[in-house]
Amino acid sequence: MEQQIKDLRKQVEEALQNVKDKNDLANFWQNFLSKKGSIPNLMKGLGSVAKEARPAMGKLINEFRDEVTKQYEKIQTILEEKELEERNKTEQVDITMPAKKRPSGSLHPITITKNQMVDVFAGMGFEIFEGPEIEDDDHNFTSLNVAKNHPARDMQDTFYITEDILLRTHTSPGQIRVMNSEKPPIKVLVPGRVFRSDSDATHSPQFHQMEGLVVDKGITLCDLQGMLDEFVKKIFGSEVKTRLRPSYFPFTEPSVEVDVSCFECGGKGCSLCKGTGWIEILGGGIVHHKVLENCGIDPTVYSGLAFGIGIERIAMLKYGINNIGLLYENDLRFLKQFKD
Ligand code: PHE
Repeated sequence: MEQQIKDLRKQVEEALQNVKDKNDLANFWQNFLSKKGSIPNLMKGLGSVAKEARPAMGKLINEFRDEVTKQYEKIQTILEEKELEERNKTEQVDITMPAKKRPSGSLHPITITKNQMVDVFAGMGFEIFEGPEIEDDDHNFTSLNVAKNHPARDMQDTFYITEDILLRTHTSPGQIRVMNSEKPPIKVLVPGRVFRSDSDATHSPQFHQMEGLVVDKGITLCDLQGMLDEFVKKIFGSEVKTRLRPSYFPFTEPSVEVDVSCFECGGKGCSLCKGTGWIEILGGGIVHHKVLENCGIDPTVYSGLAFGIGIERIAMLKYGINNIGLLYENDLRFLKQFKD
């Protein structure tokens, strides 16, 4: 028996020297230390040992097993440390390296323009109101003094859903909704999406407008010009001038188109202003007395001003965009230029 242990010890030493990796170590454990391995197997031979010598021999085998187990564990620790070291080498993190940048998005030029416009009017005390994009004939036309079959309906090519329901052609129905639910003094801004069956380089079937409405005692065209003059200077620059030209809208009387002096050529005449020195930017006027009456407001006591501004038009002029389609294509090369 003692000889057996001696032989086995020799085998163990040799085997341990050949252990190069975890795999070898696992094999070693399997061969010598597992339940069926050579060392536990020694116990089976105890039967043939003289009875008196058995306890001492059993002790010897146990000590041998413990000793080999310790050696096994030592090598296991060494191999694990080596493995960790290798991993640390290959997976090294250089904390001084610059971080990967996440690309940040930016606001759409229409949103940027809309926000700037809202800011200017908010500074004058306007509140925001938003109406529905799907409107009825009454709010979009009839209450705004555009009767059924009135030729003025031709001014706005309309998408009808039913005979009475349509996609709003302008933000002016917002005027009716506000005046129906609020008493003067009123000072609101109605930004929103509008729709017309119209499409070319400067027109899109879907675009955005910003409506302004002020109703109070003694409101005149001078208030309109003053406000819009201030607005234009804030958006296009303090040297820009405004002028009012007579125009026609069924819901305002008098009606005006507002032009700004060309900020490209300073009024001398260029391709942007088509040689006139002036650029048309919006329509407006004094709220028609019939519109006030339609909303239960007494036109002998109150008067109002209203205007409607195309947001795309302002954005195109401000940024020198010559095709409205560019605003809707979502081409990142275009959109990236408008970081605010
Ligand atoms: N709603 C008109 C349009 O879309 C603009 C406008 C608004 C004119 C308010 C007068 C007053 O053309």
